[in-house]
Amino acid sequence: MIRLIKPYLEYEEIEKEMREVFDTGIFTKGVYSKSFPVEIANYTGARYAFLTTSATTALWMCLKAVGVKEGDEVVVSDFSFPATVNVIEDLGAKPIFVDVSPETYNMDVDLLKARISSATKACMFVDALGNPSGIEEIVRVCHECGIVVIEDAACGLGSSVGDRKVGNIADMTCFSFHPRKLITCGEGGAITTNNPEYARFFEYKLNHGADHQTGEYVSYGYNFRMAEIPCLMGIQQVKRIDAVIAERRRQRDYYVEQLEPLGFKAQTAAANAYHNMQSIVFVVPESIERDDLIAYLREHEIESTIGTYCQSACAYYKKKYDDVQQTGMFLQEHTITLPCYHGVDIDAVCECCASYIKKAESM
Ligand SMILES: Cc1ncc(COP(=O)(O)O)c(C=O)c1O
Repeated sequence: MIRLIKPYLEYEEIEKEMREVFDTGIFTKGVYSKSFPVEIANYTGARYAFLTTSATTALWMCLKAVGVKEGDEVVVSDFSFPATVNVIEDLGAKPIFVDVSPETYNMDVDLLKARISSATKACMFVDALGNPSGIEEIVRVCHECGIVVIEDAACGLGSSVGDRKVGNIADMTCFSFHPRKLITCGEGGAITTNNPEYARFFEYKLNHGADHQTGEYVSYGYNFRMAEIPCLMGIQQVKRIDAVIAERRRQRDYYVEQLEPLGFKAQTAAANAYHNMQSIVFVVPESIERDDLIAYLREHEIESTIGTYCQSACAYYKKKYDDVQQTGMFLQEHTITLPCYHGVDIDAVCECCASYIKKAESM
């Protein structure tokens, strides 16, 4: 079976540290959960970093930090995993879907301008499949209107724009450590920010409302902590993320070389953007049905999946807001994510795609 992704971590690499955790009995709030956020801050260049249980809880916390509530609007990139919009909906705010570029799959800045209103409290920009293209321009436009930008970089760790890494561009940035991501802890997430007020908010809200110096419960709060073992897994992987990305970018170029002559069209990045290639995604040729290709690859023991979702077209949101965005919908129906990890047999994947096209065209 050719899997979609495999973790860039072997059990043997962390066996010693895992044993130490069991020997000491310190499964939470130990050295690893202290040092993992420091590693993330150092890597991204952000002033502050905090751990959470997932990108979903990270995004939710960021909206809480801005004070988003019922009656507010939040503009949101439409092409994303629905966790992005769910947290807006959960707080009683109205998600305003902004359609995306058919090339980068990221929020279109002109469409954003048309969707900002006096009720807009925040902007949720998504690095689609890790692609940070356009974030700087979105931040500029939003700041001119007094709107806070939360970057959903669940897939974007290691991407950058110019000399600024994702995590050090928007007002707040959220990452995921789910197994589909370049660093996995099983589950987990992080928030980075350069803003001391947001940092202070996260410090006590993520710790049951307790002041971290005095221990006094200065507010109410939550427990979205990561445990020691997931953190030590993460620390090991931060060390190699740049090498992982370099290899994935090489693999992506090879896919492009093989598949574009067959009519596939790759997701692209802006000239100043460095895409970590968290997912290798193509629009399939017009002559074929994407779902049939996924099924054919599966029959040949090759795992693949859709690009991601058009959130405004998800049953709940379509029924409630009836505001389906055209490009997001097109991408949901026509994109495919192909296997990418160290040692993947790209030729086998591309040959299988080619043989499916041949078969489809002869029918
Ligand atoms: C863009 C985006 N946002 C949020 C999430 C949710 O991440 P998590 O599973 O860590 O909550 C995902 C997960 O795939 C995602 O792709």
